[in-house]
This record gives sequence, C-alpha cells and structure tokens, in this order.
Amino acid sequence: NGGFKFQPITLENHLKYKNSIKKTLSCLTTVGELSDVTFTEVIEHWIQNEHIYKTIMIVDTEKDQCIAIGTLLIETKIIHDGGKVGHIEDIAVNNEYQGNGLGKLLIQFLRNFAVYEDCYKVILDCDEKNVEFYQKCDFNKCGVEMQHRP
Ligand code: ACO
Repeated sequence: NGGFKFQPITLENHLKYKNSIKKTLSCLTTVGELSDVTFTEVIEHWIQNEHIYKTIMIVDTEKDQCIAIGTLLIETKIIHDGGKVGHIEDIAVNNEYQGNGLGKLLIQFLRNFAVYEDCYKVILDCDEKNVEFYQKCDFNKCGVEMQHRP
C-alpha cells in the first residue's frame, strides 16, 4: 500500500528507522557515524523531555522508511505572561522526495502543533536559499541570526 504517514519517533521504533533518518538528515548537514548507543541516548533524552521536544517523521509506508523529518522545540518564557515560543529545527526531506509538497506539510504540521500548545509565535533560522520555501509556508523574514561557535 503506497502512501505517506506522520509518525513520532519512539523507543520502540527508533532503531528501525535509524538509517533512513540519517539519510534524510544528511541533505541538511553532517550527521556523523552516530552509534546505536548515542542515537538511543538522544531519543531517550527527547522522550524524557517530551513537553519540550516534538519530533515528527513522514514515513513512506511502502518502503517503511523515514523520508522527511522535523522538530518543534517549545520554550517557556517569563515574558509575555509566561508565554511559549515554538522553535522549528532540523527540517529535511529526502532528496528523492523533494518538490512534492512534503516539506510544506511537515511545516504546517509542526506550526499547527505549536499553535495547539499555545505558542504566541513560531520562529526558525534558515539559509537565504530556503527563504522562498518558508514564505510559501506563511513565515516572514524578521530579525537577524547571530552565531557563536566555540
Ligand atoms: N526555493 C524556492 N522555492 C522552494 C524551495 C526553494 N529552495 N523549496 C521548495 N520551494 C517551494 C516549492 O516550489 C513549493 O511551491 P508551490 O507551493 O508554489 O508549489 C513550496 O515551496 C513547497 O515546497 P515542498 O515541495 O513542500 O518542499 P520540499 O518537500 O522539497 O521541502 C525543503 C523543502 C525542506 C527545504 C527541502 O528541499 C530540503 O530538505 N532541503 C535540504 C535541507 C534543508 O535545507 N532544510 C531546511 C533547513 S532550515 C531549518 O531546518 C529550520
């Protein structure tokens, strides 16, 4: 049965999807070797802090592989009356699946989740080459990103 489904990463399924998650994220940046132990530690950390980390995959149901992935981080603040901000991070669609609307679906899903969680805004950093994509997902340019890399 061909198709796609949204699926969370769990302690039960994460090793099954590890290779396809790594392949998907490799179009974004360096993933590294990532041993099973390290990978499990990351997923355990996310699950222990599941009110903060919301990562979702899109799975190709025929191949049973992750073909898109993204994370929403929920930050609780003092300002704005103890308000919450959603941070969209590490968005990637497998090269072979790009250009089919899956990236936009993923962003809509994470943004709706942020609204559901009462975030008063949702923000992200991206390269200039992705600005048009995010504009098509109803994000506007705002501010300047600064970095310090120790
Ligand atoms: N430049 C201009 N327009 C674009 C681009 C682009 N780079 N990418 C997509 N679009 C447009 C599409 O043409 C489409 O337009 P339409 O609605 O008018 O038809 C719309 O944006 C939606 O495109 P999708 O098909 O949903 O995009 P896709 O599934 O290819 O995903 C993504 C886009 C996530 C940027 C993908 O190309 C990718 O994974 N790239 C490599 C990794 C990356 O750069 N990720 C984003 C990092 S930023 C972050 O993580 C916060």
